[in-house]
Parts: sequence; C-alpha cells; structure tokens
Amino acid sequence: MSIKLSHRLNTIASLIGPQPAQIWDCCCDHGLLGAELLNHGHQVHFVDVVPEIMQALEVKLQRFFPHVNGQAPNWFVHCADVARLPLIQHPTQLPIVVIIAGIGGELMCELLQALQPIIHQRHTPLSLILCPVNHAYLVRQQVRSMPLLVTDELLIEENRRFYEIMQLNTLHGKPITATGDSIWQAQPANISDTTTVVTSTAKRYQQKLLDHYQRRLIGAEKTADQNAIKHLNEVIAAYQGLNLSR
Ligand SMILES: C[S@@+](CC[C@H](N)C(=O)[O-])C[C@H]1O[C@@H](n2cnc3c(N)ncnc32)[C@H](O)[C@@H]1O
Repeated sequence: MSIKLSHRLNTIASLIGPQPAQIWDCCCDHGLLGAELLNHGHQVHFVDVVPEIMQALEVKLQRFFPHVNGQAPNWFVHCADVARLPLIQHPTQLPIVVIIAGIGGELMCELLQALQPIIHQRHTPLSLILCPVNHAYLVRQQVRSMPLLVTDELLIEENRRFYEIMQLNTLHGKPITATGDSIWQAQPANISDTTTVVTSTAKRYQQKLLDHYQRRLIGAEKTADQNAIKHLNEVIAAYQGLNLSR
C-alpha cells in the first residue's frame, strides 16, 4: 500500500531503522504512520481510544495488509486508552518502539506518567518517540523525572506550526534538557522572501515560544497567580538563555 505521509509523520518514520521492531502507534487515529511502518516490515500495534476509529482502521488494514494463514500477524488493533497500553500481553524478542504523536503536551504528560510502571518493569531496552503538538517544555519536565535518555531530537515546521520530535531510550543516550539541545543548532531555513534576512526555523520557534509564554505571564500577573508567575518567568528565562546564531 503506497502511503503519502506528512513531513512530520515522515520524519518520525525516518527515525526508525530498518531492523524489524515491535512498534506501538499510540493515539494512531488515521493509522497512516503505522501503515507506513508495516510497509517497512515492522510489527505494528495500532492504539486509539475511539471505537469507530479503530473499527474503520481494522477494515482498511484487513483490505491492504491481509493476515496470511499460517503466518504470525504483523499488525494488531487495540481500542484502548494508551494509559493502559497492553504491551505486557505481547512479549517479543524484537526491539520495542512506543510512538506517541499528535496529542497535546498536557495529555502526553498524563499518559507518560501512567506508562511509568510499564517502562520501569521492562528488562529489555525500550524506545519512545514523542511528538506533542504543544507544551514541549512540560513534556521535557515529565521525561526528566523518568528513567529515559535522549538519543535524538528534531525540530520541524509544517503548516506554520513547529513540532519537537524526541527520541528516547531506557538504556542509552543523554539526559534530556529543559528546552532541548540539538534542535537549536543549525536547522534548514524556510526561505519565503528572498529580499529579507533569512531567519532560521529555530530562531522563529524561539520567538513563537517567547511570545506565547509572555502572553501567559501577563495573564498570570493580572490574576496575581504567584505560582504561575514564578513558573512562567523560569520558562521565559530558559528560552531567552538559548544562544542562537540567527
Ligand atoms: C490528532 S490524532 C493524532 C494522530 C496521529 N498520531 C498523528 O500524529 O497524526 C489524536 C488521537 O489521539 C486519540 N487519543 C486521545 N487520547 C487518547 C488516549 N488516552 N488513548 C488512546 N488514544 C487517545 C484520539 O482519539 C485521536 O484519534
């Protein structure tokens, strides 16, 4: 089945090497990412909490990736809350990759918290790929409290939105930082107007974050919410402290 993925989903797919893996496409919705990974020869577990989505997806998968008699199925459909990921019920010798993409950062933090016991009790390495639609700072704070290390992180821009993609591992990598590390280094710039100085994706993302948190700070000051003021000042200082060349 030929699949046209968005830049964001394509970037996520490209982080997964050719070695067959057991992939958990969490909050899968349309299932396009998982379907592309099936094309690449991985075993894919599709997980979403909405029954109608999973019924429609199962029909499509049966059509385009029919289970062959006598062969172990290479895809599974789970209509489930990712907070209760049935990972333990599918023991495997394959490397495990859990992908959570396309949901808000706050929900992602809740799901990561709920997944802590599963991540702790694994004796084999487990990778996670996270791509929240916002609140990457919160997600990074959550990851910092967990036994997870960063192996790669990317910043992409799609339809005028910015996405951080974090690849994490239970065994190897570097501790995650509050604002990200390599995402702020040279990124391809989006040249829309050749007469103006080109601003890098990273620089524009930094500005967007600062605008967002400064607006929230004004709101917190209006309601004299001291905890929020303290937190937002910390976040703003962290993003202002990034040293970007352009
Ligand atoms: C916008 S879609 C993301 C689709 C895809 N992952 C992507 O990045 O394009 C978000 C999906 O998350 C699902 N979802 C939200 N909370 C969930 C949860 N706790 N467990 C499983 N699925 C959930 C929703 O039903 C929805 O289909």
